[in-house]
Amino acid sequence: MRCVAFALALAALAMCASAGPLYDYVHAPDDDYTYEVMNQTIKGVDFTVYNVFLTSGEWMPQYSNKPMWTHWLQVCVPHKPRKDNDIALLYIDGGHTANKASPPSKGDALVEILCGTTGAVSAHLSAVPSEPLVFSNDPSGKSRTEDAIIAWTWKVWLESGGKADPTWLLRFPMVRSVLRAMDTIETFTASYGKDLVPVRRWLLAGASKRGWTTWMAAATAATAERPDRVVAAVPIVAPVGDLVFMIGDMYKAYNGFSFALDDYLDAGVIDYLNLPLFQSLLDLVTPTGPGFAANYSRQTILSIDATGDEFFMPEPWRAKTGSWVKPIEDAGATVIQRMVPNAEHSLTGHQIDVALTVQSFAVAIMEGKTIPVMSTSISVSDKLATIDVHIDPASSTNSQPKKCIGWHGYNKHTRDFRLITCADFKNPACLNPILWFDEPLVPMGNNSWTFSRAVPEAGYEGLFIECEFDFAGLSWLDPLKLTSFVSVAPTAFPFKPCPPTVCASGK
Ligand SMILES: *[C@@H]1O[C@H](CO)[C@@H](O)[C@H](O)[C@H]1NC(C)=O
Ligand SMILES: *[C@@H]1O[C@H](CO)[C@@H](O)[C@H](O)[C@H]1NC(C)=O
Ligand SMILES: *[C@@H]1O[C@H](CO)[C@@H](O)[C@H](O)[C@H]1NC(C)=O
Repeated sequence: MRCVAFALALAALAMCASAGPLYDYVHAPDDDYTYEVMNQTIKGVDFTVYNVFLTSGEWMPQYSNKPMWTHWLQVCVPHKPRKDNDIALLYIDGGHTANKASPPSKGDALVEILCGTTGAVSAHLSAVPSEPLVFSNDPSGKSRTEDAIIAWTWKVWLESGGKADPTWLLRFPMVRSVLRAMDTIETFTASYGKDLVPVRRWLLAGASKRGWTTWMAAATAATAERPDRVVAAVPIVAPVGDLVFMIGDMYKAYNGFSFALDDYLDAGVIDYLNLPLFQSLLDLVTPTGPGFAANYSRQTILSIDATGDEFFMPEPWRAKTGSWVKPIEDAGATVIQRMVPNAEHSLTGHQIDVALTVQSFAVAIMEGKTIPVMSTSISVSDKLATIDVHIDPASSTNSQPKKCIGWHGYNKHTRDFRLITCADFKNPACLNPILWFDEPLVPMGNNSWTFSRAVPEAGYEGLFIECEFDFAGLSWLDPLKLTSFVSVAPTAFPFKPCPPTVCASGK
């Protein structure tokens, strides 16, 4: 409403009109929101975990077989809380709709590690989304989980020509469940006593669909009264930027789509990819949608991505405009990246390493440190691919990395860096063993590093720079590993863009 009053130009009006649906939905008063703290706790050496049965709200009661979304929210309270700290960590996770009769008997190991070692209240939210679900308007009648639910909700919205209620888009109730978990923990810690500082600020994290949800909760949790509610976000394997462009790149790289998009192909939503309606859908639920960039302005965002991700290309920040992250940085946010080599979407085998990165990052945020930003420039000529990284010494008290290394991975046939190329992981034919190797880099002086590789005559090579940073006085912490963007050389794609019959037929 206020938006309209300020909107003098038509363009501004248009922006305002599409700016608020997600924000309005997640902040709407809702009698269905309730929570109950179970009596049985889980005791660790350094912490106590409380099982909270959370009802985050009702969604699509006319169509969903389980409209009430219920979650186990596990709140880990450290026995020796970090002094004066009002920042909590929330890890958003998946899993089935919670059943009150069977509370979890164990805490989440990684959340307990974060809780015990950082001294911050750390919580684990399950069942985002609430699943499995069956929809009454779905002729297949199938029980859907994960992407199959999201794809169905997108289909309903797209087939309505964008006229259906936008809250059909599953991101709406997913983000709402995160906001209700935050509300719950703020209330719970405010009355906890024992000198625990009530939680007022947040570091949000999650992977994949929950990484996407992390982006959107970070964009909508703060209010005009509490602009600093979210201080940091760690979206993991969820570089959900200029998706039309990124999925278009994928088609040009693989001559088709990754198997990872099968649920979306099955639902027929990719038929809309290059139509304006698809962008309208994304505008409602991705960080590049109108109005969202400014809402990250006070945050530090650590994007953790995988070189071999079957959902995303190894250059996760590529966009039609060059970089979709830039408007978010321009709004004032600090956006940093850690690209994990030799990992696919699930980060199998890398979980501890990634958790330690989150731990170092969280402590740096709680200590009020400025995180070093690796300014990266990439150049690819006919013969040579080069990445230059410069770290502004003034950007951080810890801007001098312990060391930097260069990573490179090569596919001698085609531009495909996925570690798995079909859904049957146990079938050797699905493995695509593109391995990344590292080599030491010599500092160029002036806090700069450069990494060059000959452009291969056949196939494609990816490269990036990784630097390790120590945070002074915190020797028990793992170094924080941050990376540059990935450059792929040669830059041209091997295949043609997706034809309109496949990507713009609107079914
Ligand atoms: C917890 O214990 C109290 C006291 O024994 C009881 O009144 C309450 O109903 C219990 N709550 C739950 C969720 O079991
Ligand atoms: C950004 O946050 C403000 C409150 O700080 C809110 O009014 C606005 O709707 C948010 N923008 C979007 C696009 O959600
Ligand atoms: C070193 O980096 C700074 C920017 O931080 C730049 O202004 C300066 O020109 C650089 N000096 C050299 C010798 O490259």
